[in-house]
Amino acid sequence: MTKLIIAIDGPAGSGKSTTAKLVAKRLNYTYIDTGAMYRAVTFLALEKGIIDSPDEISSMTKNLSIELVPSESGARIFVDKRELTEEIRSLTVNKRVSDVAAIKDVRKELVIKQQAMGKAGGVVMEGRDIGSVVFPDADIKVFLTAYIDRRAERRLKEFTEKGKNFSIDEIKENLINRDKIDSSRETSPLKKTEEYTEVDTTEMTIDQQVEAIVNKARELIELRKVK
Ligand code: DC
Repeated sequence: MTKLIIAIDGPAGSGKSTTAKLVAKRLNYTYIDTGAMYRAVTFLALEKGIIDSPDEISSMTKNLSIELVPSESGARIFVDKRELTEEIRSLTVNKRVSDVAAIKDVRKELVIKQQAMGKAGGVVMEGRDIGSVVFPDADIKVFLTAYIDRRAERRLKEFTEKGKNFSIDEIKENLINRDKIDSSRETSPLKKTEEYTEVDTTEMTIDQQVEAIVNKARELIELRKVK
C-alpha cells in the first residue's frame, strides 16, 4: 500500500461530506461518497416503482454500473452512464434511503463496489460502515458527530442554497428517523467502536475539522514513508 485509506463515518449532517471532500483535496486523494451510492439505488427503485420490494431492489443493484467522478464541488454520480448527481438529493430520496440501506443484499453489492474503488489507497471514503465493514483495516478511522440541532441547521442551509424550502422541523424529524434506522438495522449498523477517533463538530469550524484529520494523515504518511 503506497497511499492511505481514510474512513470517515458518522450520522447524517455531522459534516462528513464537507470534511471528507476537503481532506481529499488537501492530500490529493480521491473522495468517495458511499451514501451517494445508496441514494442512487433508492432513486432508481422509486422511479421503477419497486421501492417496497427488497428482492427486486437487490437484483437491480447487482446489475448497476456505478461511477463516482470527482468534480470541483465534490463528486458526480453516474449510474449506467446516466447522471443522477442532483436527483439523489431530494427529500423523497432522503425519506426512503435508510430503508434501502438496511437491505442486506443491497449492502453486500455496494460494499463490493466500494472495496474495488478504494483498495489501491489514496482515498477518503465516507459513510456509515467504512471503518467497520468496507475497510476494517483503514489507516485512519474518524467518527464525526454533532448535536442534532446543529446537524438540522446544516441540512437546512444546504437545501436553502439549492433554492429548496423545507422547515427545520421537517428536516430534524427526517434526520432523527434516519439515525434510528441506520443505527438499529441488523446489517452493519452505524456504530462508533473504540478504534475510531471521535470528532464532535458541534462547535468546530470546517477548517478545524479538516485540519485535525489532515494532521493525523500527514503524521502517518511521514512515519510510514508513503504518499
Ligand atoms: O450520507 P448520506 O446521508 O448521503 O447517506 C444516505 C443514507 O445511506 C443514510 O441514511 C445511511 C445510508 N448509508 C449507509 O447505510 N452506509 C453507508 N456507507 C453510507 C450511507
